[in-house]
Amino acid sequence: MKKIEIADGIQMLSMNVEQILFEGMWELSNGVTLNSYIVKGEKAAVIDGVIGWDGIPETLYQNLEEINVNPKEIDYLIVNHMEPDHSGWLENFKKVNDQCTIICTDKAAKLINSFYGSEDRIRVVKEGDTLDLGNGKILSFHPTPNVHWPDTMLTYESSTKTLFSCDMYGAFGKIGDHYFDDELTAAEVEFFEIEGIRYFSNVMATFTPMVRKSIEKTKELELKIIAPGHGPVYRQNPQKIINDYLRLCQYAEGAGKKEITILWGSMYGMTEKAIKHAEKVLEREGIKVNKLKLPLASESEMLATVFRSAGIIIAAPTYEYKLFPPVAAAIEEVGRKRVSGKTALYFGSCGWSGGAEKELKEIVERNRMKWDFVDAIEFEGSPTPEVLSRIESGIIQLIGKIEQKVV
Ligand code: FEO
Repeated sequence: MKKIEIADGIQMLSMNVEQILFEGMWELSNGVTLNSYIVKGEKAAVIDGVIGWDGIPETLYQNLEEINVNPKEIDYLIVNHMEPDHSGWLENFKKVNDQCTIICTDKAAKLINSFYGSEDRIRVVKEGDTLDLGNGKILSFHPTPNVHWPDTMLTYESSTKTLFSCDMYGAFGKIGDHYFDDELTAAEVEFFEIEGIRYFSNVMATFTPMVRKSIEKTKELELKIIAPGHGPVYRQNPQKIINDYLRLCQYAEGAGKKEITILWGSMYGMTEKAIKHAEKVLEREGIKVNKLKLPLASESEMLATVFRSAGIIIAAPTYEYKLFPPVAAAIEEVGRKRVSGKTALYFGSCGWSGGAEKELKEIVERNRMKWDFVDAIEFEGSPTPEVLSRIESGIIQLIGKIEQKVV
């Protein structure tokens, strides 16, 4: 666990976690950081404590003591969000210190009782409520529901103009030696942008309208530092992560990088022949291509790649009168995450009958994805020159359409 002073009287405890399935399902090839913050006035408050994935909170207590915070003398626990990556230590902490007061929203209070047993030392806060810790340290609380659960809030410290944003403005990816935006190398900036896309697409995308509201709330605060629960701290240019999040909201609503992702599957190579042709066309047109063969090991990667691409090609055969199941499952997952408005093309082979396109449209409609499709090409058996020519025309149309979607 790394201990760093991020502003006068405010310490960060940060730890990297690797080889986990985040939320029990997202495989994180580059890990994730968990950040906790300690604000000291005359009284001490811990914001979003962190513990290892092994569930052992003693590491946290030891690190608190090393920054001269006696866990037994902590006055307040600020719970911005009850997901156990931030709250998993609460039950144990009550055994160490049963006198501290938990500060949280009404919805978080309900979750505390259902997750960790009855707790009566809770102060429920509403928009704009404050907590004076003494020595000029005043915290204010700003509920921001559904970023990422209904219980969430932002906490703001006014003397240092620091926003403790928990999941908001976070990113996956473990931190090396550089914890602040002004220390990051160009490669690290790019790394956290990519991991930010993965994080947003995996965890936040479903709640994009609420993320937009949270950004509006952030704009009402005078900010010098954004200190999230995951990823680097922004002290040189907090506006950068706000702008990044605005762009990620646009990705969830159909915009993207000038990239086309081919989500594909092929049983016996008929559809694959058409994909090879499609790749040649895309290469000729100078478009960056992400090719994802399904089923994939990493659903996290699939979501992130589709999410960031302005154009999607779905290339898969009919299987038992429907869309090739691994591809259908991927589109369902993208739909559950409410990634809407993407521009797309479908093509695929069939044997005795089609059906893939029909099911694809049904999935897109049922999930209210509002994807903009150019004409689909469903063909029997191996693609003929005429089919390849139609696919080429479809790709040219797709490229033309995504021009307006690139941000
Ligand atoms: Fe970092 Fe929604 O928990």
